[in-house]
Amino acid sequence: MTSLFDPASFGKIALSNRLVMAPMTRNRAKPTGEATALMAEYYAQRASAGLIVTEGTQPSQVGQGFLDTPGMYTPEHVAAWHAVTDRVHANGGSIVVQLMHAGRIGHPLLYADGHRSVAPSAVTPAGQAFTPEGPKDYLEPRALSLAEIAATIEDYAASARAAVEAGFDGVQIHAGNGFLPHQFLAANTNRRTDGYGGSVANRVRFTLDVVEAVVGTIGNERTALRISPANPFNDMAEGDSAAIYSELVPNLPNIAFLETCEIVARPLTALVRSLWKGNLIVNPHAAPDAFPASAAAAREVLDAGLADAVSLGALFLANPDLPSRIRAGGPYTAADEATFYGGDHRGYTDYPHLAG
Ligand SMILES: Cc1cc2nc3c(=O)[nH]c(=O)nc-3n(C[C@H](O)[C@H](O)[C@H](O)COP(=O)(O)O)c2cc1C
Repeated sequence: MTSLFDPASFGKIALSNRLVMAPMTRNRAKPTGEATALMAEYYAQRASAGLIVTEGTQPSQVGQGFLDTPGMYTPEHVAAWHAVTDRVHANGGSIVVQLMHAGRIGHPLLYADGHRSVAPSAVTPAGQAFTPEGPKDYLEPRALSLAEIAATIEDYAASARAAVEAGFDGVQIHAGNGFLPHQFLAANTNRRTDGYGGSVANRVRFTLDVVEAVVGTIGNERTALRISPANPFNDMAEGDSAAIYSELVPNLPNIAFLETCEIVARPLTALVRSLWKGNLIVNPHAAPDAFPASAAAAREVLDAGLADAVSLGALFLANPDLPSRIRAGGPYTAADEATFYGGDHRGYTDYPHLAG
């Protein structure tokens, strides 16, 4: 039986163990999207993870949805990220960047260019963005034209090329949590009547096109995808989730890994496992009280044969040396939610390592 501490190779990505740091937005990049020395320190501290997936990183300016999130589309972004990947590699870790285009989630007050968000269709999300001027209702996004969809797919490919230049071991395309690819997948956010909307086969097309473009640029063995079946976060209502993922997953090329963020939907995790013959990472939440995911949940999902590796968010955020702690049976530091999004080193690089 696979142990959490067994090494693995997912395509060209080497994992020293099966404990993956889940992607987490921390809003500590420069306003222009460059990673900072503090970010390099944060990721270097967590290099004993089998693999780090970075915070969501915009592949283009219009893909930015939040304050002070990093980018991957200028030479300055590449240089700044290189300092991060160098530190992680020097500490023996592996790291992939998560490319996150926020689509309709965002607000003009959050970024220097004040752009209006884009989406598959002009459907306004319920809820509010947290801006420097306080909470503001989301605005109606502008529906992408077919030419803009093609350009957006190109942006992902160019960003993936930049990521490899920046020293990343690979790229994870974020198709979950209510961001742009997910907005194409879901029934409530995709009202298109062209080849990217309507039928389930049409709704999965954008994600498949992005994956294909990234694979064509950096190779299947460095490409990964994150999904979050049935996740309602960011005002999403997918419709028939089983139908969507039954169409998407078998049509994926043989990429390095697929990650599924489980939101109290174990049957959908089992469905994805049955449809996906490649490497699968599960961010396990079988029950409503399973947040944040625990070491026990990690072991359980691996032992059940549902996953080849397990991703953990809050536990890695608050426990930089998490694999050692899991080996030792704890103790674990609890994450401080007040310092999740933005700020300085506090609640970021000052979580303690185990003594000795
Ligand atoms: C502070 C914070 C930021 C997050 N940002 C992202 C993100 O940028 N991209 C993403 O795919 N998921 C993001 N997530 C979701 C996590 O990857 C993970 O799915 C979630 O925390 C649940 O896993 P856990 O119970 O192990 O923490 C974020 C979660 C947290 C706590």
